[in-house]
Amino acid sequence: MSDQTIQEEHTLQPPVPHPTDEAAVTAAVEAALAAIESASDLAQLKEARLAHTGEKSPLSLANRQIGSLDKSEKAVAGKLVGAARGRVNKALAARTVVLEEEEAARILVEETVDVTAAPRRRRAGARHPLSVLQDRVSDIFVGMGWEIAEGPEVESEWFNFDALNFKPDHPAREMQDTFFIEPADAHLVLRTHTSPVQVRSMLEREVPVYVLCPGRTFRTDELDATHTPVFHQFEGLAVDKNLTMADLRGTLEHFARQMFGEEAKIRLRPAYFPFTEPSAELDLWHPTFKGGARWIEWGGCGMVNPNVLRAAGIDPEVYSGFAFGMGIERTLMFRNDVPDMHDMIEGDIRFSQHFGMEI
Ligand code: PHE
Repeated sequence: MSDQTIQEEHTLQPPVPHPTDEAAVTAAVEAALAAIESASDLAQLKEARLAHTGEKSPLSLANRQIGSLDKSEKAVAGKLVGAARGRVNKALAARTVVLEEEEAARILVEETVDVTAAPRRRRAGARHPLSVLQDRVSDIFVGMGWEIAEGPEVESEWFNFDALNFKPDHPAREMQDTFFIEPADAHLVLRTHTSPVQVRSMLEREVPVYVLCPGRTFRTDELDATHTPVFHQFEGLAVDKNLTMADLRGTLEHFARQMFGEEAKIRLRPAYFPFTEPSAELDLWHPTFKGGARWIEWGGCGMVNPNVLRAAGIDPEVYSGFAFGMGIERTLMFRNDVPDMHDMIEGDIRFSQHFGMEI
């Protein structure tokens, strides 16, 4: 291969020195040494090595030309190019040692683990115990084949009172209990209980109806250790043929045992609610209650008043129903021994965290 072809094939390459041209060979060496010296890391050095000692580098190509020279020139050229390549290889080896040391030192610094550094602690959040309890109650009823129903927090007076058989002059309607929404002629209230969802469920669904309605409720109470104007209830409603007080009792007993364990007991005491007849207060007994085994008032219940069934378009001669309602805050208070309502609403993560995660 002639000089000419090599030049043409590698037009972008630096010129190939003639192997006897001392100045040209020295220039190639100088270029190589400059590249080696300016390589600031091992990757750059690798590039320099390829460019100046690789098969297509000027010095390698010059070396290959030696074979085709006259005998007289061969010895001179061999010595010249050989020495040139030797200098470049030596410089490469020296630079490699330096850069390898630099890299090792850099890695040592960069990857140092400071075993004395304070760890970054990430606080895990926690679901609020009221939400966890609400889910738990819902799960128990879903486990019995009931459905979950919801209704609006801003409710029409008709659903909250009239349809539930509250007479127009019932004391619960008065200002001290109920948040009325302005203007008064809109007849809207913040629902004072979850019972309006009973009526909504009966209107929306086909009988038989088995629904649990958890949700937020509102009354004009001052916040203190045992009262809060915004609280939560869950309402249960079953409407079917031949339902009796025995079905209500059996359902509540099963629920109490699921919530509090096999030792839990319930009792019903006669009471009055406009929307149930007969009506009862529900009490719960458990041996591990704080302050010893005793009865604690838990909620209200009863057989759905025929007037309520009628308001929802259900024939009380064919169907009967039972209903019950409990406060979630109150349940949390005696289930988990929370003496002060403030703790439940202040939103301090430490309160939620000590309940842990309940799945
Ligand atoms: N709604 C009643 C209350 O808030 C509870 C209740 C519900 C009573 C269902 C009987 C039946 O006090």
